[in-house]
Amino acid sequence: MIASAQRMQVLTPHFFSTLGPRIAALNAAGADVIRLDEGSPDLPPARFIVDALAEAAARPEAHSYQPHRGSHELRAAWADMYRRLYGVELDPGSEVIPLLGSKEGIFHLLQALINPGDLALVPDPGYITYRRGVEFSGGEVFFFPLLPELGYLPDLAVIPPEIARRARLMFLNYPNNPTSGVASLEFFTQAIDFAREYDVLLCHDAAYAQVTFGGYQAPSILQTPGAKEVAVEFNTLSKSHNMAGWRVGAALGQAEALKALFTLKTNADSGHFYPILHAATVAMTGDQTWLVERNEVYRQRMQFITSALNKLGLKAAIPRGSLYVWSPIPSGWSANVFVAAALEQAHVSLTPGTLFGQRGEGYIRISITAPLERIEEAMERIGKFVA
Ligand SMILES: Cc1ncc(COP(=O)(O)O)c(C=O)c1O
Repeated sequence: MIASAQRMQVLTPHFFSTLGPRIAALNAAGADVIRLDEGSPDLPPARFIVDALAEAAARPEAHSYQPHRGSHELRAAWADMYRRLYGVELDPGSEVIPLLGSKEGIFHLLQALINPGDLALVPDPGYITYRRGVEFSGGEVFFFPLLPELGYLPDLAVIPPEIARRARLMFLNYPNNPTSGVASLEFFTQAIDFAREYDVLLCHDAAYAQVTFGGYQAPSILQTPGAKEVAVEFNTLSKSHNMAGWRVGAALGQAEALKALFTLKTNADSGHFYPILHAATVAMTGDQTWLVERNEVYRQRMQFITSALNKLGLKAAIPRGSLYVWSPIPSGWSANVFVAAALEQAHVSLTPGTLFGQRGEGYIRISITAPLERIEEAMERIGKFVA
């Protein structure tokens, strides 16, 4: 018998890894399951990006290992994008580390920085990798609440000072998964002040920074003066450029934290495939107007879902960013039971709010990553199911 290492005890298979086989079984039995669970963009990246990938793959020299730090062009493209979008200056040599997706970077940064017993501040509800990464490192998690009445921003003043003093690191994520809350630059300034006061590394996950609607533009935490001394921002092309399967992200900002992450990564992975480095560079330096059109498609989907929910008496706000509608469920259900029943009876796959923490009870997360016709069909099925 092969026994897992003790540290594995804090890990269970990820929700989406077990959901896939269940949906495949339902479909094999004749169901037509509509997936509004995972936040995996259904639309492709712009054609010129795919062309750049194919063209680079045809080069005979494309197939060897690449530098662990990726190409200078890719890091410079990330720095240029931050200058263009946020007016932030980053040194591509020390303040940008390419990642195999931001999930990998988040998990590995925690392995590089957290000692057993160290405390990390994690939002509830929040993206599950923060918690899993801390616990896998032997660290302790202090959950701070994200409440609807505060627009899903934390009230930093209610984090007990003795907890804040013990904390090594804090996660924030705006536009937020799962609640779709957004943060202002003013809030980020307060968060940076908090990080300075308590000597906490602030990790801001900006996965949805360019998935925004109705003219809203999400700020970067690195826009806050002095942020680079205390903050790392995680960015990714997964959602911003419809490139989730490509696994291209970056950690940006605090150079010492990035150095530790980089050292760990040189031992754990060997970087990207050259055509991906090249085409990801092209994605960030080429035409960006298609993102505006893409966001308009998302906005229409969002609008449809929120109004369909409102007709069912479920009050969900229209998000200004992210790929998700965070909706209350009818009373009398738990989130897990509601989601399981919607899958088995209505053949619509949703994510239970509890996947994101205790404060997700009473909520479901509905992803907008399906064509409008499929979303319309899904909402009709949910309507009948709820009735
Ligand atoms: C908040 C948040 N952060 C990070 C990620 C990971 O994205 P990736 O690893 O594809 O860059 C996701 C993916 O859903 C997410 O929702």
